[in-house]
Amino acid sequence: MPNKPTIRPAAGRVGVLLPGMGAVATTFIAGVEAVRAGLSKPIGSLTQMGTIRLGKRTDNRSPLVKDFIPLAGLDQLEFAGWDPIPDNAYEAAKKAGVLEEKLLDALRPRLEAIKPMPAVFDTRYVKKLDGPNVKKGKNWMELADQLRSDIRRFKEEKKLDRVVMVWCGSTEVYLEAKPVHQTVKSFEAGLAANDPDISPSMVYAYAALKEQVPYANGAPNLSVDIPAMIELAKEMRVPICGKDFKTGQTLMKTILAPGFRARLLGVNGWYSTNILGNRDGEVLDDPSSFKTKEVSKLGVLESILQPKLNPDLYGNMFHKVSINYYPPRGDNKEGWDNIDIFGWLGYPMQIKVDFLCRDSILAAPLVLDLALFLDFAGRSGMSGIQEWLSFYFKSPQAAPGLYPEHDLFIQQMKLKNNLRHVMGEDLITHLGQEYYE
Ligand SMILES: NC(=O)c1ccc[n+]([C@@H]2O[C@H](COP(=O)([O-])OP(=O)(O)OC[C@H]3O[C@@H](n4cnc5c(N)ncnc54)[C@H](O)[C@@H]3O)[C@@H](O)[C@H]2O)c1
Repeated sequence: MPNKPTIRPAAGRVGVLLPGMGAVATTFIAGVEAVRAGLSKPIGSLTQMGTIRLGKRTDNRSPLVKDFIPLAGLDQLEFAGWDPIPDNAYEAAKKAGVLEEKLLDALRPRLEAIKPMPAVFDTRYVKKLDGPNVKKGKNWMELADQLRSDIRRFKEEKKLDRVVMVWCGSTEVYLEAKPVHQTVKSFEAGLAANDPDISPSMVYAYAALKEQVPYANGAPNLSVDIPAMIELAKEMRVPICGKDFKTGQTLMKTILAPGFRARLLGVNGWYSTNILGNRDGEVLDDPSSFKTKEVSKLGVLESILQPKLNPDLYGNMFHKVSINYYPPRGDNKEGWDNIDIFGWLGYPMQIKVDFLCRDSILAAPLVLDLALFLDFAGRSGMSGIQEWLSFYFKSPQAAPGLYPEHDLFIQQMKLKNNLRHVMGEDLITHLGQEYYE
């Protein structure tokens, strides 16, 4: 059996900090409160409902993940966040229109107590939104210092032992990594000089890492995936991961595409379109924010199907993704996929997927798992990029130069084998020879 690293106990109180208290964040908070109150079950959460097989199939050892690794329990969590819109979590959840009013009313006092702290926000990076609950400072560095004070105050006031941060803010405009993003030194000079290539989400990520707070990016914008942040995460010994929660249409893609590839079915075209009417849909209606999302969504198929290795099957694939803002649907997105595939001797076939999904319902359990796994990673001495958390992301962060793993089933295996490894259990190879010896 591999050596087990020292893992600090899960006891104590854990703060979950959420930049962006919109639909996803409030559905997550209200959901945890509902589960705590015994009103619902945490469906979709691997940390709460998932099991993990240990040893041989004949050993009959498949504990719940939360019984296998030392994870913080839901009762240990405290929430706080930032948002330029000053609504408390109850008002924000009501406006988001994801959860039924009856449920929100049952949780009202707890949700009303969570009021967003003033945000680091700038309409240059999210063009379709604005709000008055915004910090003032003469440069990014001063604003980062204010965020760091918020983190410390939250810890003190709620008597927290540890804190994690999950970005649930809007998708920012498309930015590419520039010289300012390359080292901690150049980034800090950029913070002091108010460099326009630094966005608010990077300021949160910087503040988190400086406070040794593990950070996950739920949106597709450039944030913790720049060399400066990777360097800082290593220096401060903090785990990081991202980006862009894998829900809805991309989740379906990363379930279906590995199947086509496994059966050597060709793909000529994959046309994906969505209608979405929530605030996220409105932000993505701006072309510069959509570009960020598009890049994140498009990478998936190429990495799973590997056209270079299979030019006859995937060399001519046309992949198109669009999102249309359509207010009547609110958070209840509808995503259509038309997939043109071909089989034996090149005979064509079509598959149509019509997914009437609920965006924030799919995303909320991912926020919970990421918060608990990041806390676990921090206590287990893991730092830098956490590739085993790729399972949760559309654009999983991987080491520079390494292509990310998009196949949901490989991601799941990677995650569970990582847990087995950390806990000193044998890895599962699926070889199965031992049953036939
Ligand atoms: N719901 C999903 O399935 C899903 C999947 C993948 C990614 N995401 C991403 O998650 C994020 C949240 O989605 P949502 O549906 O909750 O959106 P939302 O619009 O309801 O909430 C985002 C909130 O972030 C706030 N915000 C924007 N900039 C901020 C800043 N600098 N600091 C603090 N707050 C800020 C906005 O005011 C808003 O309240 C979006 O970026 C979205 O693209 C969502």
